[in-house]
Order: sequence, then structure tokens, then C-alpha cells
Amino acid sequence: MQKIGVIGGGTMGAGIAEVCIKAGSEVIIIEAKPEFVESAQKRVSTSLGKAVSRGKISQEDADAALARLTVTVDYDTLADRDLVIEAAPENLDLKRQIFARLDEVTSAEAILATNTSSIPVIQVATATKKPARVVGVHFFNPVPVMPLVEIISTLVTDEKIADTVADYVKNTLGKTVVRAGDQSGFIVNALLIPYLCQAIRMYASGYATAEDIDAAMVGGCGYPMGPLTLCDTVGLDIALAASESLYAEFGEPHLAPPPLLRRMVEAGQLGRKSGQGFYNYS
Ligand code: CAA
Repeated sequence: MQKIGVIGGGTMGAGIAEVCIKAGSEVIIIEAKPEFVESAQKRVSTSLGKAVSRGKISQEDADAALARLTVTVDYDTLADRDLVIEAAPENLDLKRQIFARLDEVTSAEAILATNTSSIPVIQVATATKKPARVVGVHFFNPVPVMPLVEIISTLVTDEKIADTVADYVKNTLGKTVVRAGDQSGFIVNALLIPYLCQAIRMYASGYATAEDIDAAMVGGCGYPMGPLTLCDTVGLDIALAASESLYAEFGEPHLAPPPLLRRMVEAGQLGRKSGQGFYNYS
């Protein structure tokens, strides 16, 4: 597996593309609109520049990696891809449209993967005529730094396909692989999202300040960042979508999105990427 496609050059897509080109794969990112192409390219080159300045990679290797990246809006360029990883927004209809398109443009041997953080993979896979070749491949933010990838098999995924992807992620990308069944949230978000929602409820009730909630979990539990800082980093829209998927799947009250999370997303307060979340970044 050397020819990889990535759908979407946002935070996750750019991060996935970066780790693949650093590992020697040739990557095509498909962007939704021509005006997004340049910023997707820049996202990858800026992060690679950061890796160079931190001594994680040489300038020469970063340049060679960037030369393996193409960003385009042309789905037909995916015809020769071994693996295509979709990293589009968490919207089932959009993902199904993308997978139907991928089914048309990719070869019969191509493996299709979704980086969904919480939508059951089968709901995406059935948009194709080859659901046995569809897996979940869930990376974590920031992708170049976080070691984990969850590999999700649906009820109909060919296990040889899941094994092939797990082998690539582990042995080529050098990530830690865990395998999970096809339930909303998989392992990490099924545990993380209720914790984040509970922190938002605690903050919304006025029980403690954002700073103190975060300081408590950093200092008291040794977490690298507190839950509200983590919400801002992940994106409040992503946290909301994950919470909605989990609540739709399990119907348990503690999984329901807190009203404040919904209001902040409606107000455009998406966290770090919008400049305002539980903290101000401008
Ligand atoms: N490329 C390569 N390496 C990089 C890098 C880059 N672009 N940027 C940073 N690094 C490296 C640094 O060199 C450093 O490495 P060393 O420890 O070897 O020196 C390491 O990454 C940490 O970087 P920093 O020291 O700058 O930053 P930090 O110590 O403040 O850590 C963090 C930053 C890794 C993000 C840390 O705060 C953390 O782990 N936070 C929690 C993140 C998390 O929980 N992510 C999961 C979110 S949930 C999700 O993504 C799933 C979903 O579906 C919603």
C-alpha cells in the first residue's frame, strides 16, 4: 500500500496525509472546492515545518515528503489508489455521498476507510457496492503527535482487509493500533465524550471556573490538557457531532449533548479553530 487518497484536507485529513507522506507513501488529498486547495497544502507544510524546527525530521526529509503530496479537487485521480481514507466533516449524508463517489472512481481492489470519530462505519459502508472492503480508521488530533489509531471492522468487513490496513498503520506509519467493533464512539470517544460533556455541564452550572476544571484534571489526574481545553482543541462542532452519535446509538442521558455545547456551536464558537471556545485565542 503505497498510493493513498485522503478525502478532505482539514485538521484531520492534513494530519493523516502528513503521516503517510512522512512514511514514504504517495498521497493525493481531495478537497471539496478549488479555493480550499492552497490552505490544505499549507496545513501540511506548516506542520512539517514545525516537525523540522523541533528536530523530529530533517529539512531534506520534509521536502521529500512534501514532494509526495498532491492536493486537488479531481476525484478521478483516485483511480490508482490502494487505500482511500475519508476525513470529511461528521455528516452521514455527506460521507455516504463521498463513498458512493469513491465506489465509482476507485478500482475494485481499493480499500476504502473512514476516519469518522463516532458514526457506525456500516452506515457509511453501505453507500458502496463493496462494503466488505470498507473499514474504520480513526486517527487522533493532533495526528502527527498522537500515537493511537482505532481500526474498526463492521459486521461485513473482510477481516483480511482490516488486517492489511492495521499492518500499514502499525508497520508503515508506526502508530499503535487497537481494534474495536462497530459501535458509535468505538473505544476512545465512547469513554472521552461523556467526560467532556460532564465537564461542560459542570462549567455551565457555575460550580467551577473553566480554568479550575482544567487545572483539576491536569494536576489531579495527570492528563496533558484539561477537558475544556481539549474541547477547544478537538473543535466543539466535532465534540457535538460525537455526542449526538453516541446519544442516538445508546440513548443514555449522560451522552446527550449539554445545551451549552449546542449553543456555542450555533454561535460559531468552535474552539481554537474559530478563535473562541471556552477560552479566547485571538
Ligand atoms: N510534528 C511532529 N511532532 C510534533 C509536532 C509536529 N507537527 N508538534 C509537536 N510535536 C511533538 C513535540 O516535539 C513533542 O515531542 P517530545 O515530547 O518528543 O519533545 C510532542 O509532540 C509534544 O509537543 P509540545 O511539547 O509542543 O506540546 P505539549 O507537550 O503541550 O503537548 C499535545 C501537546 C501532544 C497536544 C498534548 O497536549 C496532548 O496530548 N493533549 C491531548 C490531546 C488529545 O487528547 N487528543 C485526542 C483528542 S480526541 C480525538 O482526536 C478524537 C476525536 O475523534 C474527537
